[in-house]
Amino acid sequence: MRQERPGGERENRVTVRAPAKLNLQLAVGPPRGDGYHHLVTVFHAVSLFDEITVEPAARDRVTVTGEGADRVPAGRDNLALRAVAALRAEVPGRAPGVRVAITKRIPVAAGLAGGSADAAAALVACNALWGSGLGQAQLVDVAAKVGSDVPFGLLGGTAVGRGRGERLTPALAPATQYHWVLAFAEGQLSTPEVYAALDRLRAREARGDEQPPRHQGGPGGDRPPEATLDAGLMSALRSGDARLVGRTLSNDLQPAALSLCPALRKTLAAGLELGALGALVSGSGPTCAFLAASAKRALDLAVSLSGAGVCRSVARVTGPAPGAAVVPGRP
Ligand code: C5P
Repeated sequence: MRQERPGGERENRVTVRAPAKLNLQLAVGPPRGDGYHHLVTVFHAVSLFDEITVEPAARDRVTVTGEGADRVPAGRDNLALRAVAALRAEVPGRAPGVRVAITKRIPVAAGLAGGSADAAAALVACNALWGSGLGQAQLVDVAAKVGSDVPFGLLGGTAVGRGRGERLTPALAPATQYHWVLAFAEGQLSTPEVYAALDRLRAREARGDEQPPRHQGGPGGDRPPEATLDAGLMSALRSGDARLVGRTLSNDLQPAALSLCPALRKTLAAGLELGALGALVSGSGPTCAFLAASAKRALDLAVSLSGAGVCRSVARVTGPAPGAAVVPGRP
């Protein structure tokens, strides 16, 4: 699906934007033995987008500009380059080298799946540039090999994720627009370290050192129960009532993120005191997300939060946002 210019000449550059995500629920089950945990999660894409442009090059390479660019790996570890390689493996023979230019707006290692958004964008962009013609379902299969959150970067909207998060079902819900305030933290958190901290907290709970905050332990006592979808959240989403959604937000990784970054407690408390309908750490953190009752309330909350000195900066976003898509008319 390489774009044609009016004269029939082919575009040799494709620009795609892909959204950040929140997890409205993140239920973490037992470790799987392959380094991952069984999950049930409700992904929600929001209107904070990274943009990537691909064009032919002698060999694959990446440049990164924008928010936190110096902390994004520029070599083979770059998730967008890994996505390019994964797509090439599916379409051998018609996939020459590319230069990938990433413009970051999604903060790095912030629990917003920015790297996954870049990977999803790279898949859509190269599929178009190379004229590979892969459909959404095929791209989702490739995306799952690149990272747990990459398939959702393609899909966008609001969706239930299972497995390690890569098995998606779109959530059927009315076209409600939710208003969020994101509070970005000074530091970063590494996703594997947050999962490891959760395992440690649960091991302590199982030994009886502490009362478990949520999982009471099954008959075996020392193994977290299977993760299950929160029927209350799903019914709140079906009602389109932001107040109900705010009350049913949940994240099993939050205690682990707070144990590594205790200052986030203050951030969450401040947002709730300032009238947020609900608050939670986004994914593995450290970004905190606050649901507001309206665009006006979100603006007030953003202004007050940034004045309260409890975060590095704030952003107002709405959700659900669309998944990775070609930006028409660029460059
Ligand atoms: O799939 P991705 O590379 O984004 O995952 C990053 C890390 O997060 C994994 O290496 C693992 O430590 C942790 N993770 C997990 N269970 C999941 C998803 C991610 O433990 N379902």
